[in-house]
Amino acid sequence: MEAFLIKGGRPLKGKVGVSGAKNAVLPLMAAALLTHEPCTLEGVPHLRDVRTMTALLKALGAQVKREGERITIHTSPSSAWEAPYNLVKTMRASILVLGPMVGRLCKAKISLPGGCAIGVRPIDLHLKALEKLGANISLEEGYVVATCPRLKGNTVYFDKVTVTGTENILMASVLAQGDTILENCAKEPEVQELAQVLRAMGASIKGEGTDTIRIHGIEELKGYHHRVMPDRIETATLLIAGAITGGEIEIEGVIPQHVEAVTQKLREAGVDLQVERERIKVKGHNRPRAVDVTTLPYPGFPTDVQAQFMALMTLAQGTSVITEKIFENRFLHAAELQRMGAQIKVEGNKAIVKGVEGLKGAPVMATDLRASASLVLAALAAQGTTWISRIYHLDRGYERLDEKLAPLGAHIERVKEKP
Ligand code: EPZ
Repeated sequence: MEAFLIKGGRPLKGKVGVSGAKNAVLPLMAAALLTHEPCTLEGVPHLRDVRTMTALLKALGAQVKREGERITIHTSPSSAWEAPYNLVKTMRASILVLGPMVGRLCKAKISLPGGCAIGVRPIDLHLKALEKLGANISLEEGYVVATCPRLKGNTVYFDKVTVTGTENILMASVLAQGDTILENCAKEPEVQELAQVLRAMGASIKGEGTDTIRIHGIEELKGYHHRVMPDRIETATLLIAGAITGGEIEIEGVIPQHVEAVTQKLREAGVDLQVERERIKVKGHNRPRAVDVTTLPYPGFPTDVQAQFMALMTLAQGTSVITEKIFENRFLHAAELQRMGAQIKVEGNKAIVKGVEGLKGAPVMATDLRASASLVLAALAAQGTTWISRIYHLDRGYERLDEKLAPLGAHIERVKEKP
């Protein structure tokens, strides 16, 4: 396993680009299962989760070719229809093959994803929606088995806003017979991009980005050739890197609208931001002010930026209250930040963060993807050296973040973890 060795206390300065969005690439790769025509995605980052989705699609009979930042997927008509546990257990987003498989093959067998560090993360809403569309769902030895003569359009109401739930059922319904109405949908940009690509494939979809999406089922879909959107969570992470180190970073190739909830909070904290059409300049000259944050579905403050923002608040003037409303256990980074001198009290879904003058480097452990990003940010700001173990969590969702930060002046080294 690998670790990061970071010598902190150096303001980051310079320009940095943002990779393609992990949480857009994964559903778009799964969408290739809806057609027998080739599908090409441009701007695909080199991430562990992309490699896992590639392996999963191959296990389902697809040919997947990777050339640099381009991936081409070509499913075979006699696609296999079982998503094996060994792959699904490493990436929850594997569940995204369920909808397209049931929609196109009228059958699917996929291992239950199991929980993860940040919560139980059930898929009950995915299954309930598929049953509403006429699928027979059974649980057999840890696998979900879904079959149907052909899905039939219906009205589906999501009890909770679910990103991959909305994406799964959107993909299932585009080939269903008749009309489907999805209520209480997720509005994330990644959901909207999936709908736009499905429409380019020939699907009849209206209303993405609102609570209600209407789909008219058709017989078959064409392939797609699409460049994926920039990663808004990486954008937010890099903005906070500039702020927390008191540096000056220009982040290029971004969509500012996708990070509005974050830039607004950073401004409230006194961070100087200059927003242009496709770039944002961040200057973190002064110590940030403490501000409260509550995570909400898009366009609210993203739960995937909560850990990174907490790192910033550990150095703020005053006390901030961070409320996590999406996942039940997404404060694992708090204990690690405390090892670096942060003063954080976790009470249920709230973390009370009392800002301190400075953090000190220490050995810490990454527990999940965004927690590991939070530790990197804290280490960049801390005085002294920080050793972050289990950095494989970070590589799931950030494309060689160390190689992006080093040219900005970060002293960050990827090392082999001591046995
Ligand atoms: C997506 O996960 C993202 N992953 C997550 O990003 C992100 O944190 C999350 O949405 C929330 O924005 C991808 O897009 C691949 P949900 P997802 O279904 O779809 C509950 C990252 O860091 N729920 O929107 O799995 C669930 O437990 C990852 O890149 C049910 O109860 O999240 C959670 O409390 C982490 N039953 C809430 O809804 C269900 O059937 C929102 O989950 C489905 C969800």
